Amino acid sequence: YTVDWDASAAEKGGWDSFMDKEIHEEPAAVQRTLIGRLDDNGNINLDEVRIDEHDFKMIDKIIVIGCGTASYAGLVAKYAIEHWVRIPVEVELAHEFRYRDPILTPRTLVVAISQSGETMDTLMALRHAREQGSKVLAICNTQGASIPRESDAVLYTHAGPEVAVASTKAFVAQITAAYVLGLYLAQLKGTVFRDEIRQTLDSLKAMPAKIQWVLDTQPERIKQAAAQLEDAQSFLFLGRHVGYPVALEGALKLKEIAYTFTEGFAAGELKHGPIALVDEGEPVVFIVPPARGRNVLHAKVISGIEEVKARGAYIIAVAEEDDKDVERYADVIFWRPECPTLMSPLVDIVPLQLFAMDMAKQKGYDVDKPRNLAKSVTVE
Ligand code: AGP
Repeated sequence: YTVDWDASAAEKGGWDSFMDKEIHEEPAAVQRTLIGRLDDNGNINLDEVRIDEHDFKMIDKIIVIGCGTASYAGLVAKYAIEHWVRIPVEVELAHEFRYRDPILTPRTLVVAISQSGETMDTLMALRHAREQGSKVLAICNTQGASIPRESDAVLYTHAGPEVAVASTKAFVAQITAAYVLGLYLAQLKGTVFRDEIRQTLDSLKAMPAKIQWVLDTQPERIKQAAAQLEDAQSFLFLGRHVGYPVALEGALKLKEIAYTFTEGFAAGELKHGPIALVDEGEPVVFIVPPARGRNVLHAKVISGIEEVKARGAYIIAVAEEDDKDVERYADVIFWRPECPTLMSPLVDIVPLQLFAMDMAKQKGYDVDKPRNLAKSVTVE
């Protein structure tokens, strides 16, 4: 896919940047990644994946490898797949995995996540895994790229070409594909009842509409927040559970295209050091879990908000509609519609992508081609 950077607005779907276009393609990216993988009885069929059922059933460990955004998609998937399949899922940065002499057996499934399918760090890591006798399954957005070609099998995302250097729609498509894989393994291993698999798939199929709700209702308040915070020199991003990788990805987006110093970390880590960074007016972004069902994680994130608020922080929250606790403390709230915790990364990341884009645009930066970065890092 050769990029025509000077593509007219028409090629950008009428948007003023590829990144804007691609964020708005996220509902379709999720929807299209699901097409053809669920049969009418709510079962998952991954006939396209050339690993036979017996080998899949024998898997007793998964190691997800990737870089940057792809690794954060893997970290989201870890929480879901471990919950459904009850086998350990490790997530490794490909360039670290490659050189740490990892423990690999024929019962280890290595899942290589890559949008471009040409990231050299990830390609070298999967070659190492295959040399050690493990099966490798690629989750890739580019048909026929090196990584799927050198893997035992591939589960393609169908996000469509992603041109902007900062990955957006590929991230939500990668999570979707990883979830389909996880539910397929749970179906094969019988670790999740059929009706729970069907319910989970139904909640996954409902996500494109929820992403669209965010795209339809939140952009104005996100733009206002970006204008208000234009001069902020640094941001902290905090999340718990699947909100933690969303915090990492939100921090990366702002780094990549607005060139702002950010740090994403697990909200529970606050008291173990990072709270020392909180000064008067420091913008702190919290990804807040659902309040429903007296979610203990929700209470813990709210107490983290209280702690930094008491130290003068400026609180930006991504939270579920009508969360009264968040309304009490946050200076700015990006709302998401109600959804199951495991599905929340698919909507929580959207306002953070838009926020990063708005921050970069108001600074006059090129959101599609940020300095120093390449769309695919094809060198080690
Ligand atoms: C994401 O915004 C970055 N462009 C970068 O982290 C990217 O996700 C990483 O280099 C992996 O690329 P891949 O998915 O094409 O392998």
